[in-house]
Formats: sequence, structure tokens, C-alpha cells
Amino acid sequence: MGGKIAPSLMCADFLHLEDTLSTLDRAGVDYLHVDIMDGAFVPNFTLGPDFVHAVRHATRVPLDYHLMVDHPERHLHLFPVREGDIVSVHQESTPHLQRTLQQIKSLGAKASVALNPSTSVLSIEDVLDDVDMILIMTVNPGFAGQKLVPATLHKIARLKRFLGERNYGHIEIEVDGNVSMENARKMRQAGADIFVAGTSSVFKPGADLLALTRELKEAIA
Ligand code: DX5
Ligand code: ZN
Repeated sequence: MGGKIAPSLMCADFLHLEDTLSTLDRAGVDYLHVDIMDGAFVPNFTLGPDFVHAVRHATRVPLDYHLMVDHPERHLHLFPVREGDIVSVHQESTPHLQRTLQQIKSLGAKASVALNPSTSVLSIEDVLDDVDMILIMTVNPGFAGQKLVPATLHKIARLKRFLGERNYGHIEIEVDGNVSMENARKMRQAGADIFVAGTSSVFKPGADLLALTRELKEAIA
């Protein structure tokens, strides 16, 4: 089975969002990546609960929440999380990671831990029983349009090996940040399963969303 695509809605054209959502649905994307930022954990603000509720009503595509917020456990209730969704919280954002992962699972969603480029894969060794996916940040979180942190390519391969050696090969790996067509191929070879597609691929300004989605699918087949 090929890699899965999660277009990053913070990169979408908000003035034509309904058309974008139906095009993405037609293109057969696997998730819609929703970046939530609090201006504290990362120095930026993006999408909020009202935006997410509107998107939820406009599409049947599952949501892939990326909570770049301090203490995500305090804010989870604001979002329409449901079965089939993924919720990623940052390892660096709460002292109660295991409990927060349990909270996500209690909502019927897949639980995921996101790791900043500087955070070691070893830091999540004790929650492998609680996660369905691990999100490797291939840029520093907070902004679209950044360049890949080169060391993160090796980190993907190391994580893949780390999981396999411990019989956790079923845990999926998602990558987020500067997922260009060229980087996507390298990330796929390194072991990535789900690809957050932003301005580096499907939302390239002024380009054909459907054609780029198809091109990215081929790159990660
Ligand atoms: C950055 C976000 C990413 C970003 C990806 O913090 O998590 O989802 O939107 O966009 P590009 O492809 O521009 O890096
Ligand atoms: Zn993201």
C-alpha cells in the first residue's frame, strides 16, 4: 500500500475553502491536516475550533489534528474529535503525555505523539503501547514554507528501525514540514507512511491542486 496524504489546511486558500475541500475529497486524500497553534508552544496562531467545526460539517474526510499548544489536555474538548480522526500532541507540550494519549483514545481517535526536530526518538520509548502514530516534524513547528531540517531524514529511518526492533512496526510514521515531491520520495524511502502536504507540494501557490495531489501520490507510492 502506498503512502497516505494529509493536506495541511493552514496552507489552503481560505477564500475558496469549500471548493478546496471538495477537490481534496475528489482527489481521494486520506486526512485533512489541521494545525492548531496557541502563540505560546509555537510563536504563531493559525486555525481555531470554529474553523474546525465548519470544516467538519463541510467534508467527510477524517481530520488529522496537530496540536501545537501547551497542555493540549486542557483544550481537546473544544474540538469535534471523532472516530477515524488522528490527534497528535507534542511530547514537549505536557508532563502528562501518557494520560493525554489515553484521553485521545477515549474519544475514539488514533493517538499520536509529535516530536520537534531536537527531540529524541528515545523520549517516547515508554508510551509505545499508547500510540497509533508518531509525527516527525521535519521543520521547526509554527510556520509553513520553511526548509527541511536535514537531520530529520535520518531520524525517520532511525525511528522506523527503533519501532521494528521493539515489535512496534505497526505504529505509523507521519512527516510534517517541507514535504516537497523530492523530499517526499526520500521520506518514503526512510520509512514514512503519512505525508503532510502544504505549500511545498499540493498548496503550491497558483498551481493545480488536483494534479499536484496526483503527483504527490505517485511520489510516495
Ligand atoms: C508547520 C505545519 C505544517 C505546514 C506544512 O508547523 O505543521 O503543517 O503547514 O507546510 P509546508 O509544506 O509549507 O512546510
Ligand atoms: Zn502540522
